[in-house]
Amino acid sequence: MFAKNNYFLTTPIYYVNDKPHIGHAYTTILADVLARFHRTAGDEVFFLTGLDEHGLKVQQAADKKGITPQLHCDKMAPRFIDLWEKLHIQYDDFIRTTEKRHENVVQDILRNVYKKGDIYFDEYTGEYCVGCERFYTEKELVEGKCPQHDKPLETITEKNYFFKMSKYQQELIDYINDNPDFIQPKHRKNEILGFLRHPLDDLCISRPKSRLNWGIELPFNKDYVTYVWFDALINYITAPGYSSDDKSFNKWWPAVHLIGKDILMTHAVYWPTMLFSAGIPQPKTIFAHGWWLSGESKMSKSLGNVVNPLDLIDKYGVDPLRYYLMREMVLGQDASFTMESFIKRYNSDLANDFGNLFSRVSTLIAKNFENIIPEPGELTVVEIEVQKRAESVIKQVDNLINKMRINEAIEEILQFVRSINRYMEQQAPWNLVKTDKSAAARVLYTAAESLRISALLLQPVIPNRTKIILDIFDANGTELKWGILKSGTAIKKHSPLFPRIKVKEPVVDMVNVTAQEKLITYDEFQNIELRTALILEAEKIEGANRLLKLQIEVGDEKRQIVGGIAEHYQPEELVGKMIAIVSNLESTTIRGIESNGMLLAAKKGKDLSLIVIDSDKVESGAKIF
Ligand code: ME8
Ligand code: MG
Repeated sequence: MFAKNNYFLTTPIYYVNDKPHIGHAYTTILADVLARFHRTAGDEVFFLTGLDEHGLKVQQAADKKGITPQLHCDKMAPRFIDLWEKLHIQYDDFIRTTEKRHENVVQDILRNVYKKGDIYFDEYTGEYCVGCERFYTEKELVEGKCPQHDKPLETITEKNYFFKMSKYQQELIDYINDNPDFIQPKHRKNEILGFLRHPLDDLCISRPKSRLNWGIELPFNKDYVTYVWFDALINYITAPGYSSDDKSFNKWWPAVHLIGKDILMTHAVYWPTMLFSAGIPQPKTIFAHGWWLSGESKMSKSLGNVVNPLDLIDKYGVDPLRYYLMREMVLGQDASFTMESFIKRYNSDLANDFGNLFSRVSTLIAKNFENIIPEPGELTVVEIEVQKRAESVIKQVDNLINKMRINEAIEEILQFVRSINRYMEQQAPWNLVKTDKSAAARVLYTAAESLRISALLLQPVIPNRTKIILDIFDANGTELKWGILKSGTAIKKHSPLFPRIKVKEPVVDMVNVTAQEKLITYDEFQNIELRTALILEAEKIEGANRLLKLQIEVGDEKRQIVGGIAEHYQPEELVGKMIAIVSNLESTTIRGIESNGMLLAAKKGKDLSLIVIDSDKVESGAKIF
């Protein structure tokens, strides 16, 4: 897969003022998935996570409990460590900012930056948000309140030390422009460049001990502690060995920083300017993902609307939660967390597609080949086609992971799994065994080999249940290429890996379009995105007389869509037609089958016609006005 590299990946270090929640779990799982992909590819990986233990928030949390901040931290840390264990997070280092190794580096950096003349003493009055642990400027406030917490701020006047952040403004702008992958995704980079069009303020980096003493003491004034962000960001260089182990530091630095968009400013402005001043190279990438939302608001503990990941794990297992979080969020955008979409994803991808393929293949081998993986014999063009598809999926996944397009990589693997389920249906090895046992052997070997490859590809995302499959096929740690599965391997029986979650499914009916009296505004129409789509495959859905399942191409994207047109069109006649679809419709599940979009048809009485487009004139994915 990838070329062999040193890959240093970090998560934010989380505040210990409260217990971990689904947002923390998300970023940490994301990092774990990336780390595992890179390890499988032969990269040497250093995956760092940890805890942010200083600052006012932590002190206040400790005060509330009537214990010392250090004791509070020591009580909270295991909560995070236990959750990471439960979620099967394989980190390489866990840093806590109260550790001596970190304190040393923070004081080193402060000394250097001070010596350089980039720190000065001044009086300051500002609007401070305790939740964010930072001052806000007037222009950043929303209706006079903190934009993150929607709470009024405290006006604070005091003498403090300031870091000359403004001095590095132009250098930062140039650096961002010269290094297009530095801040990702692109819209976040533009956000930072937009922010940097205004003059940058200097950064207050101290807190008088009289107000807050829970922090790292300034090496040049013992009446002050270091501002928690100036302290916390430095964890990223402490862990790989800055100023204590040059060899290790040079091996790992620069890092890829995974963060949520809530802390983009501190990572993309404070941190780079600190590094400029300290003469340390910039991180490779700062990647800010979006938020998990519950309804309209960000999921977190402080908003009190949190779904506790532990509850989901106990109920459904670790793998389904990891899968859902990785598959459902488009990296860089926000995503809504709902139980409904969780169950939908689980049932369609894990139970119906992946789990089903495993059950079918292992059951058929058990039943017809005495539990022994059969010899494939000579492959036909159909199997060579499957092999080619497998090879292309392996490449494509590598490519997408490198571009941090994890949800697309997963979808690519699932498309492959679905195609193997179709291959099974077309070849019907359960019938073949009666007439041509070697043909059945060929099909089952091919399906089993495809399953092995799919399991290996999905392993970084769902490490536990893929391990069960790979163990059963005696294929753990095997190479990611075609033709490795050993015929003659005895397989063990296993209960379904992803038993369906039973829910009463809402009856989704096709929309009957009738002439409507109600007028809509121009804007309302603009919200509906209509596009051309090319039908690549069409098939009937067992037990649903009116429905057809279509695989369509919409520009660069492939999708599955379900339409109630089976009484009007034969699957064969649809392939190659260019049709019109509503392309920005929420994904839904119809009879257990995922549908992404809605096709447009004209209907009167019993007659129905698809809206068909002259495909000589436009390609798929074209916008319809
Ligand atoms: O900010 N959706 O710590 P923190 C997605 N200590 N990710 C979420 C999320 C959500 N709803 N809620 C939280 C801090 N996160 C500092 C960081 S780093 C030097 C110091 C994740 O406990 C996301 O990664 O508030 C976000 O950036 C992080 O948790 C914030 O964690
Ligand atoms: Mg936060």
